[in-house]
Amino acid sequence: MKEVPLLLLLLILYYPSCHSLDTITLNQSLEDNDVLVSNPRGTFALGFFTLQKDSKTRYLGIWYNKISEQTIVWVANRDTPLYNTSGVVSISNGNLVLNNNHLNNNKNLKPIWSSNVSVSPSFGNVSAKLLDNGNFVLTHNNGKNIVWQSFDYPTNTLLPFMKLGLDRKTGLNRFLTSWKSPNDPGTGNLTYRIDPTGFPQLFLYSNNKVPVWRTGSWTGQRWSGVPEMTPTFIFNVSFVNNVDEVFIEYGVKDPRVISRMVLEDSGHVRRLTWQPNENRWFQIWFGPKEECDNFKQCGLNSNCDPYNAEKFECECLPGFEPKFEREWYLRDGSGGCVRKSNVSTCRNGEGFVKVARVKVPNTSMTRVNESLGLKECREMCLGDCSCVAFTSENEMLQSGCVTWHGDLEDTRTYTQVGQDLYVRVDKHELAMYAKHPYGSLGKKGMVALLVVGTCLILFMGTILVYWFVKARKKWSRRDRKFSFRLSFGGSDQQEFDSANNSNLPFYDLSSVAAATDSFSIVNKLGEGGFGSVYKGILSNGMEIAVKRLSKHSGQGIEEFKNEVVLISKLQHRNLVRILGCCVQGEEKMLIYEYLPNKSLDFFIFDKSKSSELDWRKRFDIICGVARGILYLHHDSRLRIIHRDLKASNVLLDTALNPKIADFGMARMFGGDQVEAITNRVVGTYGYMSPEYAMEGQFSVKSDVYSFGVLLLEIITGKKNSGQYADDASTNLVGHIWDLWREDKAMGIVDQSLGESFSELEVQRCIQIGLLCVQDFAVDRPSMSAVVSMLGSDSTLPTPKQPAFIFKRSNYETSNPSTSEGTYSVNDASMTMVEAR
Ligand SMILES: *[C@@H]1O[C@H](CO)[C@@H](O)[C@H](O)[C@H]1NC(C)=O
Ligand SMILES: *[C@@H]1O[C@H](CO)[C@@H](O)[C@H](O)[C@H]1NC(C)=O
Ligand SMILES: *[C@@H]1O[C@H](CO)[C@@H](O)[C@H](O)[C@H]1NC(C)=O
Ligand SMILES: *[C@@H]1O[C@H](CO)[C@@H](O)[C@H](O)[C@H]1NC(C)=O
Ligand SMILES: *[C@@H]1O[C@H](CO)[C@@H](O)[C@H](O)[C@H]1NC(C)=O
Ligand SMILES: *[C@@H]1O[C@H](CO)[C@@H](O)[C@H](O)[C@H]1NC(C)=O
Ligand SMILES: *[C@@H]1O[C@H](CO)[C@@H](O)[C@H](O)[C@H]1NC(C)=O
Ligand SMILES: *[C@@H]1O[C@H](CO)[C@@H](O)[C@H](O)[C@H]1NC(C)=O
Ligand SMILES: *[C@@H]1O[C@H](CO)[C@@H](O)[C@H](O)[C@H]1NC(C)=O
Repeated sequence: MKEVPLLLLLLILYYPSCHSLDTITLNQSLEDNDVLVSNPRGTFALGFFTLQKDSKTRYLGIWYNKISEQTIVWVANRDTPLYNTSGVVSISNGNLVLNNNHLNNNKNLKPIWSSNVSVSPSFGNVSAKLLDNGNFVLTHNNGKNIVWQSFDYPTNTLLPFMKLGLDRKTGLNRFLTSWKSPNDPGTGNLTYRIDPTGFPQLFLYSNNKVPVWRTGSWTGQRWSGVPEMTPTFIFNVSFVNNVDEVFIEYGVKDPRVISRMVLEDSGHVRRLTWQPNENRWFQIWFGPKEECDNFKQCGLNSNCDPYNAEKFECECLPGFEPKFEREWYLRDGSGGCVRKSNVSTCRNGEGFVKVARVKVPNTSMTRVNESLGLKECREMCLGDCSCVAFTSENEMLQSGCVTWHGDLEDTRTYTQVGQDLYVRVDKHELAMYAKHPYGSLGKKGMVALLVVGTCLILFMGTILVYWFVKARKKWSRRDRKFSFRLSFGGSDQQEFDSANNSNLPFYDLSSVAAATDSFSIVNKLGEGGFGSVYKGILSNGMEIAVKRLSKHSGQGIEEFKNEVVLISKLQHRNLVRILGCCVQGEEKMLIYEYLPNKSLDFFIFDKSKSSELDWRKRFDIICGVARGILYLHHDSRLRIIHRDLKASNVLLDTALNPKIADFGMARMFGGDQVEAITNRVVGTYGYMSPEYAMEGQFSVKSDVYSFGVLLLEIITGKKNSGQYADDASTNLVGHIWDLWREDKAMGIVDQSLGESFSELEVQRCIQIGLLCVQDFAVDRPSMSAVVSMLGSDSTLPTPKQPAFIFKRSNYETSNPSTSEGTYSVNDASMTMVEAR
């Protein structure tokens, strides 16, 4: 009976408020309501949390203290959750322990969780502190001896300065283990760990250590299987491999960059950075990415080449042939390859063939000699008949020697960076490969062109960069009053123009040039009538798409800036986000979010990719595009007409949600202006409404027309500008119209949809498409009508005859050579000036 008031008193004492501590000591424990904040900058916090609002399970963990989004980086009791708020962390017997109840001082009861270190008798003053790098550290003897730290027991997150790897002396192995699910931090199936046998490698394993993905061995600068880790990477990485330990540690070059790597239960390893301007995590890298990343995708002694578009991705290494000819022919490479002939490769005129830019094979049985150069390595391998392949240990220095003496397992090719592997072949093979180096068969011309092109561009790039730097110096001198500089480390910088008083960042030309490798051709994503698009990576790791506008836009700088600021205010889930722009001298660029999945045309017009979009997905895309256009036409404060809607201007995000690109190119309208005449026709054949193509008259209904064409293309998987049936002058729209009138329109539905669709729904969509492409603009529905037709079962009007004006022959004859700009059919935009 006496205990009740005591309990109440304790409740009052211990639940007064959420108060923050900085140390846990013998006398200071951590209750459910408390948080331990890291010292001195308060970057991280440790305390109790739940993962979902009404969840009963509570965990003790560490999260970012200054980030709005709950981001857990470490969990103590991941497999033993608490079910109420009576958890207490305290120090007991020199250990950190998590108990269920403060009153439970029964030392014999097993704690919920414990740091579980064996303690020497005289451990002195014990305390636990959370450091600013996110490490929770338990010390004995007044902070002198670190006896336990959370960095030694990672969960699914690798923070900067945390080691991933093995302490060979103590046997402590630090590796990542996935959560069970996003709402359950319990120990999951996947691990991401360094395998120290042979030449150490990083592996992603599933259940029971089955390898899923081999990140590969260390090349001196990066993991063999992570070509993205270039020297301009935002991390300084140290890889240590000696008798005492083998580990990797990432540091961030700029301490302001908040970055983490997480092993997700989905089977992906992701590297994310926090974007404070946007209040969200941004993915800068992930793996595994493609089939060739799967461990042993092509079996033994083979190479997986995902860029081998016309052929099968698996190919045998030089001197090898498929083990099972028939499976190989049927594109199942898992059987791998075997030595081709019985011609001896031992002191019989044999040699080596170079396999360029690869992730080198499994190194767990290799021999390594650090003191040899590449040449000596070759000699040594040649002299040893058991040696089947070799490479340099350090890719950049071409030093050190790694040799293989058995089967070559899990090799794959990259486009740009990769190690060179030298594979032993007999004298006949050697002679054959001398004529046609490995990997060049059938692509010789292209490679040569690429090499020459790259050299040329590098050379021009150097000149350009030199010029940029000079120009920028001048420019920034002029504008110093208005701009401040946010340094993101490295050599990159972003400049924000505060004069404009908007949140839209104005990027410095040098940082955009650095992000895109001086607009290198390898980073080029595409080309349109308005300019070229490049992929870039900012120094903080964020991926961007840069649209470099053609110089002759005839628009002043102020005008351009104002437009960009206006356009950037348009935000909708079906529009590509504009992140900023860059204006300097003649250069005008728009910086967009980068979408890895390319554009819609890449999917629907490609036989091998079109099956990835089933009807449900296509219908979602149609509706998404319709909503995006509706927003541009009606809902945004500005009334925007896109004027160049087409499949290649619809980008897809990772979840294949559509995002309309290039809307910023359209002319801005005042709120009530509905129709205008332009003397500059901007658009693409096949998508242009008759009144726009012929008379330069554009209105929201010209976009409706383009949308109709796009809709029909999505359903049929065919380009409008292609030719159909017997009548060479008929396009897709005309062809569908003919079929529609004969009630046979279902015959044109894309074959790769299979049986996945509802006939009624598809028929309805075709009808909506035909309504949108009617000859007279007044007959076409508005975008809001289209959206409601897509979303309901109401009866639809009967479409009238569509416009047939853009038969290709018509166009070419009616436009004499006085027109400027670029012409192309369907792939690129067309820009031209009509007769004056
Ligand atoms: C804990 O508190 C007791 C008195 O309440 C004190 O004697 C002791 O020194 C304190 N221990 C530490 C480690 O601060
Ligand atoms: C919380 O749960 C534990 C057992 O799960 C129990 O011992 C403890 O008394 C509970 N605390 C409260 C305040 O209900
Ligand atoms: C502590 O470690 C020992 C072995 O060193 C193990 O048997 C025991 O289960 C561990 N206890 C906890 C609570 O993890
Ligand atoms: C115990 O160690 C902590 C941290 O090292 C220190 O702040 C504290 O004064 C020490 N207490 C005693 C009693 O030595
Ligand atoms: C672990 O893997 C097995 C199959 O390998 C799977 O059935 C199970 O659901 C997985 N468990 C978790 C928690 O992911
Ligand atoms: C990265 O560089 C910083 C600053 O030069 C240094 O403090 C840190 O130790 C380095 N980290 C690694 C992992 O090399
Ligand atoms: C290789 O094997 C074939 C039969 O498989 C045989 O006819 C040929 O003589 C052999 N060549 C040598 C060099 O052993
Ligand atoms: C790598 O190769 C060696 C030797 O062939 C083999 O023992 C080892 O199991 C391989 N590693 C994996 C993960 O399969
Ligand atoms: C490496 O090669 C050198 C020179 O051939 C040799 O002296 C040395 O013993 C080799 N080291 C190992 C570990 O094999």
